[in-house]
Amino acid sequence: MKLAVVGGGSTYTPELVDGFARLRDALPVTELVLADPAEDRLELVGGLARRMLARAGHPAAVTTTGDLDAAVADADAVLLQLRVGGQAARERDETWPLECGCVGQETTGAGGLAKALRTVPVVLDIAERVRRANPGAWIIDFTNPVGIVTRALLNEGHRAVGLCNVAIGLQRKFAALLEVEPGEVHLDHVGLNHLTWELGVRLGGPRGRDVLPGLLARHGAAIAADLRLPEPLLHRLGAVPSYYLRYFYTHDEVVAEMRDRPPRAAEVAAMERGLLEMYADPALDTKPELLAKRGGAYYSEAAVALAAALLGGGTGGTGGAGGTGGGAQVVNVRNDGTLPFLPDDAVVEVPAAVSPAGAEPLPVPPLDPLHTGLISAVTAYEHLALDAALRGGRDRVFAALLAHPLVGRYALAEKLTDRLLAHNREYLAWA
Ligand code: G6P
Ligand code: MN
Repeated sequence: MKLAVVGGGSTYTPELVDGFARLRDALPVTELVLADPAEDRLELVGGLARRMLARAGHPAAVTTTGDLDAAVADADAVLLQLRVGGQAARERDETWPLECGCVGQETTGAGGLAKALRTVPVVLDIAERVRRANPGAWIIDFTNPVGIVTRALLNEGHRAVGLCNVAIGLQRKFAALLEVEPGEVHLDHVGLNHLTWELGVRLGGPRGRDVLPGLLARHGAAIAADLRLPEPLLHRLGAVPSYYLRYFYTHDEVVAEMRDRPPRAAEVAAMERGLLEMYADPALDTKPELLAKRGGAYYSEAAVALAAALLGGGTGGTGGAGGTGGGAQVVNVRNDGTLPFLPDDAVVEVPAAVSPAGAEPLPVPPLDPLHTGLISAVTAYEHLALDAALRGGRDRVFAALLAHPLVGRYALAEKLTDRLLAHNREYLAWA
């Protein structure tokens, strides 16, 4: 089995390799290709990946290349984890919206739109080359904004599934609080990427007993602290929102906080320098502790479980590598009626049964207007954001911003549009 990782020079790659090493029964990788235009990083990351697999006695050969077409030739699955413009572009996404009193975040709000505009054309080009090389290959997309990028891929007919670690992180957290195995915990996880709620926490499968009310009653404070959301809000919702909902529910507090702190991109860039120095040490053959300070916890478990299920191996879920309980895995898929109030071609993040035939969403509980309103508005924004990413033009950027529930005002959308374009011209062929 050959896997290619595009953006393989990322400092995150050892997280993934750690998963391949630990979970090799689920995913028998024989060839791992790391593709990246940044040769120096690629060498450091590739060296560590080889040492990690050797230490684990894993037979996979690791190769590194700057040649994308060579990397994806014959690959069974291609994992996309790239970041157009690197942390420098992310830092801008996190900074200029703050000048307008808006949250500065790489996937939410105006910064998220900038990232979508930079990223969608690059990912579509890569996907086209994957399809040309091997029409049967699966594309697993971690590249943010995952909802919009996956929608772009599926609209073009690619064999793609979008993945995020928010659900698996909560599953692990709840399992620890409940003192059960993670595979026992099924989440009624519903919404869009980075805009989800856990409406139920079931033990023993999708139809198991819902223990969320008890979990909130006993551990509400700990869960709220973790998400950096006010505890009473969780009780009012009777659900556990993703921590990305703090950018909506506590928008102004977050803006005030962000103005007082260095951007996350600067913290991450400093960590990356430290990590790359460690990776250069020929004695290092495990993933360093420092990597745990990144947001990607359990990303490898989720990725291995998904790739295993798509490629017809592994356990596909329950008790397995990283399913989210009851045989289901939380993924980003075409809506097709799963959330009946959204268009079919919207991409939703829900539990799905995953097999070599693809990811089939499971039925989700009915949603309250409290959630449907926000989900609908952000879906409309995502539609307009994708239109702007594909066709370009200031008016389309403006329309996406005007539709975004965190913007929604004419003068503000105008100001944000100007800033977005000024900071991203080098990445936007049409601007
Ligand atoms: C979580 C999100 C990812 C995001 C990451 C950021 O894992 O699910 O989509 O990329 O956090 O982490 P970072 O360490 O880069 O801030
Ligand atoms: Mn994510």
